[in-house]
Amino acid sequence: MSLIIKDMVNMATKRLEASGCLTPKLDAEILLLYYMGTDRSFLFAHFGDSMDDKRCEAYFELVDERATGKPLQYITGRQEFMGISFFVSDSVLIPRQDTEALVEEVIKIANENHKTLGTLNILDLCCGSGAIGVSLAYYLTKVKLVATDISTKALSVAAKNAADYRVSGKIKFILGDLFAPLKTGAFGKRHFDMIVSNPPYIKSDVLPTLQREITEYEPLIALDGGKDGLDFYRKIVAEAPAHLKKHGWLLLEIGYDQAQDLCELITADGRYGDVEIIKDLAGLDRIVKTRRKK
Ligand SMILES: C[S@@+](CC[C@H](N)C(=O)[O-])C[C@H]1O[C@@H](n2cnc3c(N)ncnc32)[C@H](O)[C@@H]1O
Repeated sequence: MSLIIKDMVNMATKRLEASGCLTPKLDAEILLLYYMGTDRSFLFAHFGDSMDDKRCEAYFELVDERATGKPLQYITGRQEFMGISFFVSDSVLIPRQDTEALVEEVIKIANENHKTLGTLNILDLCCGSGAIGVSLAYYLTKVKLVATDISTKALSVAAKNAADYRVSGKIKFILGDLFAPLKTGAFGKRHFDMIVSNPPYIKSDVLPTLQREITEYEPLIALDGGKDGLDFYRKIVAEAPAHLKKHGWLLLEIGYDQAQDLCELITADGRYGDVEIIKDLAGLDRIVKTRRKK
């Protein structure tokens, strides 16, 4: 027995809806596009075609996987970020649209200061899939990046994304705890024009209350910011000046309710000035931007 594609999508939509999926029709379509290795225009033109039993079964296996709550991105292995299709595995956080605000701000700074800056040296701490670093290497011509992460698996995902977009020559990936790998070994002491990071920032006791798709599938190491969610910010704010050039920028993604805490941390440190909060597309506080004073 075979099924018409349109009916398959409808059946899959109902199955996903029943599982609690918030975007059942979209997900059913994306899984079909992924399974068929085709695009949306092809699908619309072939909604009336039929699929044999074997292919129907293979498609519904993917739908069932999604119905367990596994994020679509970990099934298809892709997430779009800054107009680039990133490879993702369950070893990395799925890049979020909120983080694009950080990348856009860096590009803005680079464009506004291109005459004085020359080649921009950027440190991307906690690089994960490489969403931030690879996008910057892709969009900025004169840039050199060092990207660090504590997860070997995340670094290999990031390196693959850099290779896929032919920017490997612009990024050095280093394994280690925040700034630690910069203090020793081959990389020595370096001063960057800019340090950027989207570190783990969820409060430990809030983690279990997040959606199942996050708590059961995304790496805890990418999310847990400690008791008050600020563990990583404390360390970054304390150590960044030693790795920044004079007047170098520090840009941090934050949770929507962390702007005040971050501003207090930065002000109390005393070595930073020009603190600015940048909002995301939803109008929520999302990025803290500041500069090393001297
Ligand atoms: C919120 S994710 C951000 C990933 C990526 N930058 C993005 O925006 O999609 C945080 C990342 O920090 C990494 N990480 C956790 N603890 C770390 C540490 N002590 N030093 C360096 N990286 C760490 C995790 O492995 C994870 O990839």
